Amino acid sequence: MNSSKVASIVALISGGGTNLQAIIDACASNQLNAEIKAVISNQADAYGLQRAAKASIPTEVIDHALFKDRPSFDRELKRRVAAYQPDLIVMAGFMRILTEEFIDPFLGRIMNIHPSLLPKYRGLHTHRRALKAGDKEHGCSIHFATNELDGGPVILQATVPILEGDSSDSLANRVLEKEHIIYSLSIGWFCEGRIAMRGHRVIMDGRTLHKPLMLDDL
Ligand code: GAR
Repeated sequence: MNSSKVASIVALISGGGTNLQAIIDACASNQLNAEIKAVISNQADAYGLQRAAKASIPTEVIDHALFKDRPSFDRELKRRVAAYQPDLIVMAGFMRILTEEFIDPFLGRIMNIHPSLLPKYRGLHTHRRALKAGDKEHGCSIHFATNELDGGPVILQATVPILEGDSSDSLANRVLEKEHIIYSLSIGWFCEGRIAMRGHRVIMDGRTLHKPLMLDDL
């Protein structure tokens, strides 16, 4: 990515869109040298669509239930995303498993946020699973998306302590606050041309990251 250019982003969402809001705010305050060209949801009632509309960002809905299988949904998603010629695609609470039909054409240009300290707890119900396991800490990860669910190379993570009496909701809220910070940071690095995916590795400032960066160490 050429750091002097305004990066164009397409965001994929399925729900409330608090991560999307944090990215919208980071663009508006020039923390990010980027423009969100479109927000696409697979759920027509996703509140994040209203957040986008309020920020005058074009929105589209592609209802996955109307497609006969995953690859045909993914082909349509690819077609609609490609029309915006994005530098980066950010999955911000996009609750669909994507196949190679979508991933391969954009490989290295798709980021995902996941509410766990990957490789722990890929998939769903991460907060509940961390509580059930008796973990002392939990957190969130930003990674490049690959064909492996929640398996792409991790860029940045943040941890939160698990407190006595935590419920899934209280823990999720504490993790979300960190999500909003680490997503904008990671997107910023991409837009500045500081990070890229090579093979299954993250390269930062020309060097391979052998483990994810941690927010507390920055
Ligand atoms: C976030 O916690 C995000 O990490 C998670 O969905 C939530 C969306 O919240 N994503 C996943 O679980 C993807 N596997 P938001 O709509 O308020 O940003």
